[in-house]
Amino acid sequence: MKRIGVLTSGGDAPGMNAAIRAVVRTAIQNEMSVVGFKRGYNGVLMRSKDERDDFEMLTARSVSDKIHRGGTFLMTARCLDFMEEKYQKQAVSNLRMLGIEGLVCIGGDGTYKGALALNNLGMPTIGVPGTIDNDLAYTDYTIGFDTALNTACECINRIRETSDSHERASLITVMGRNCGDIATHTALACGAELFMIPELPWSLEDIAERVKWGVMRGKRSMIIVFAEGALSSLTSDIAKICADNPKLNEISVHHITSSQIAQIIEELSGHETRATVLGYIQRGGSPSARDRILASRLGAHAVNLLKQDKGGLAVGVHNESVIDVPLANVQDGAHVADLELEKLINVMAVMTH
Ligand code: F6P
Repeated sequence: MKRIGVLTSGGDAPGMNAAIRAVVRTAIQNEMSVVGFKRGYNGVLMRSKDERDDFEMLTARSVSDKIHRGGTFLMTARCLDFMEEKYQKQAVSNLRMLGIEGLVCIGGDGTYKGALALNNLGMPTIGVPGTIDNDLAYTDYTIGFDTALNTACECINRIRETSDSHERASLITVMGRNCGDIATHTALACGAELFMIPELPWSLEDIAERVKWGVMRGKRSMIIVFAEGALSSLTSDIAKICADNPKLNEISVHHITSSQIAQIIEELSGHETRATVLGYIQRGGSPSARDRILASRLGAHAVNLLKQDKGGLAVGVHNESVIDVPLANVQDGAHVADLELEKLINVMAVMTH
């Protein structure tokens, strides 16, 4: 291959810039030129009025001073149209018109679906896992996860100090979509007392009992890490809880917020409980050394595969080694919760009785 393309798509993740840099510098080393597409698949569909806003030639200099920067300098977007074949065909024709023979797509699950479609239409693609969620089953880690985890820990350390001073419980909502990895890893690293994730059933009654138990044991503060997708595994009859308690009557069970979850725990446990939603703070920031190294290894491997005329693959890491698997199989053996990790969180917080 003489020319390849690269794009970032879906939610941004710290380390995406480091991955683009690795793609560009490895390609140049191998005498390939690189076109960077902006705003994910939107750039490939050339949707802007001025094509300079859709793509640009990337040189070794274009990626200088980027390895330590969060976000993605190519920008990113979710492109729902790309689910349709007519747009996928248009993308392949646009890529061919630019002389592009292979494409590196950096992102998560949705990005990989687009990459697989392009590959099936004859444009070799390689997926690079860039998402804070760590929700791709085939790879041990995704680029951005480590940074998001460190950011969440730093925030929770601060919340712990104020909670401790006020002898409160704090419910902290972390990202991760349908995956509890950010929550469980953060909980273990912060010494959280409790956590709720989409992969494990939990009840408000049990959480409240455990808060009471923590208070009885003299805990000055309690950290409850709440994965944003955890409502999907709630087993409590929340409508009944709210109907039975006059202070909770106002809560609409269809749009329950983190503050309301905290309010219910407070009512059931009798212990003051406040909520903090960390939100986009977790997605920004300079990537950790671990994410920069992962991004460099995976970006380089992606280009090496294209150089061998291989496509339809996703790169990742397993047991510290770089791997590649067919894009079609990336969600095989759906991501499961690490039960050992969960046991350990409980043991460390001395919350088992
Ligand atoms: O996939 C990354 C992620 O940050 C998820 O953790 C979160 O659910 C989602 O993106 C938020 O997406 P958006 O920025 O489009 O609201």
